[in-house]
Amino acid sequence: KLRAPVISSSAAPHCTAPPRPAGMEKQLTGTLALAVFAAALGSLQYGYNLGVINAPQEVIQGHYARSLGLYSELESDEEFNITTAEPSSDFAHPSLTMYWSLSVAMFPVGGIISSFLVGFVADIRGRIKGMLVLNILAVVASLLMGLAKMGSPHIMVIAGRAIMGFYCGLSSGLVPMYIGEIAPLKYRGALGTLHQLAIVTGILISQVLGLDFLLGNNDMWHLLLGLSGSIAVLQSVLLPLCPESPRYLYIRLGKKEEACKSLKRLKGADYDTTKDLVEMQKEKEEAMKEAHVSIPRLVRSTAYRQQLFVALMMHLSQQFSGINAIFYYSTSIFHNAGVAQPVYATIGVGVVNTIFTLVSVVLVDRAGRRTLMLAGLAGMCLCAVGMTVGLIHLSTYPWMSYLSMSAIFLFVCFFEIGPGPIPWFIVAELFSQGPRPAAIALAGFCNWTSNFIIGISFPYIEKYCGQYVFIIFVVLLFLFTLFTALRVPETEGKTFEEISALFQRKRAPQPIVEAELEQLKGATEA
Ligand code: GLC
Repeated sequence: KLRAPVISSSAAPHCTAPPRPAGMEKQLTGTLALAVFAAALGSLQYGYNLGVINAPQEVIQGHYARSLGLYSELESDEEFNITTAEPSSDFAHPSLTMYWSLSVAMFPVGGIISSFLVGFVADIRGRIKGMLVLNILAVVASLLMGLAKMGSPHIMVIAGRAIMGFYCGLSSGLVPMYIGEIAPLKYRGALGTLHQLAIVTGILISQVLGLDFLLGNNDMWHLLLGLSGSIAVLQSVLLPLCPESPRYLYIRLGKKEEACKSLKRLKGADYDTTKDLVEMQKEKEEAMKEAHVSIPRLVRSTAYRQQLFVALMMHLSQQFSGINAIFYYSTSIFHNAGVAQPVYATIGVGVVNTIFTLVSVVLVDRAGRRTLMLAGLAGMCLCAVGMTVGLIHLSTYPWMSYLSMSAIFLFVCFFEIGPGPIPWFIVAELFSQGPRPAAIALAGFCNWTSNFIIGISFPYIEKYCGQYVFIIFVVLLFLFTLFTALRVPETEGKTFEEISALFQRKRAPQPIVEAELEQLKGATEA
């Protein structure tokens, strides 16, 4: 039975301002847009650093070689330049290979470690302060990389990438958490997808700036790596202007007045906060029934097992779909598929990637998460079949390169329709306030670890399987599609409480009826 929340008459004056008539509430305000934009700068940072290391590989390796005293072992600059397209064993000096692998891999390693700390950082001083303080890490990392030419470049880049990975592991959890908590129900999917939109925009910007006639050259590569510090500075200026998550303020800290003010800032001064407060009050009562949900507790608890399974499987389907095999190795994949200008084809992938994430922003609150996830995974599965057919027959029919290329582009489109953005924000939807930080931490850990596994193992798998390499992803994608069809519920348009009820197989709570709302408003005004 719904209990009337006790809303004190001493509430801040603008909290009791007469609400607009039902249906007239402003939902998307300037402050909400600013808050989402400021938070998503953390995701832009993540995308930028995901993509930035690919294009300038050979230039950076040249600087490593010089600093390690290996340059004399290379016969000429020109020969060195060949390494990226077709690494030749002459140039792949073991120390150079090791330092380069570390430069690439320390980023996800940093992310794997820090993803565990998301809950801790989110709850210690709140989402806003958490994201704000983290920028120190991003600035330090950018300085290390930006000044790499002044010291030992290999050490400075590796240290910078590790610290940046650590930053990104935290921001890739905090950003969707904050956006999920402040977004109006109606736009929760679209705003949640902006996290992914910022990631793919970051990837695209880094791909374009990494072209050799822009920053991906001998003179400017250190600026290319260090440039992301400016994103951190911009975010540090904007975040203090953004309201703290009302759910954190009310449910976690019990600060109802502040939560109410925050809601008004986010949703409009004349927004009627009653319904939100009732919903949060109920969630708070639920949360008070149990102790703080830590990561080990969440793993052991049978109450959350279903949600956790679904959340982790969704992150596994995102990563084991093979998307990063395309992103990390697209240039060599395009090369093998017979494409003449692989670098530009890679940028083409980045453009398509961004456009289709925009499509998802529009669709996600209409078509629903489950439908888009299913369509995306099934479409990717068919594209992986197309890529395999293309690769197998390329030597007999040269036009097969068009099939491979179209299949790769479509693969990315289907990814961005659902499997790209949805896992990132659905975890915040699947869990209530108590277990949410721990669940996001575990899901992030799962995402970063599987990303690392694919990144490190794909070249070996490709070597072993040759043209059949994408069959692995065909099988995995088929299984993930099946899983989604059988186990993933629709969360679109449902409150956090209704979603957790879906899993606990209890009756969904009755919607708050108008009469009850009137009664609650009466209590507020009394
Ligand atoms: C998602 C994935 C990330 C991938 C990106 C590509 O954000 O988490 O690993 O590189 O999409 O768009």
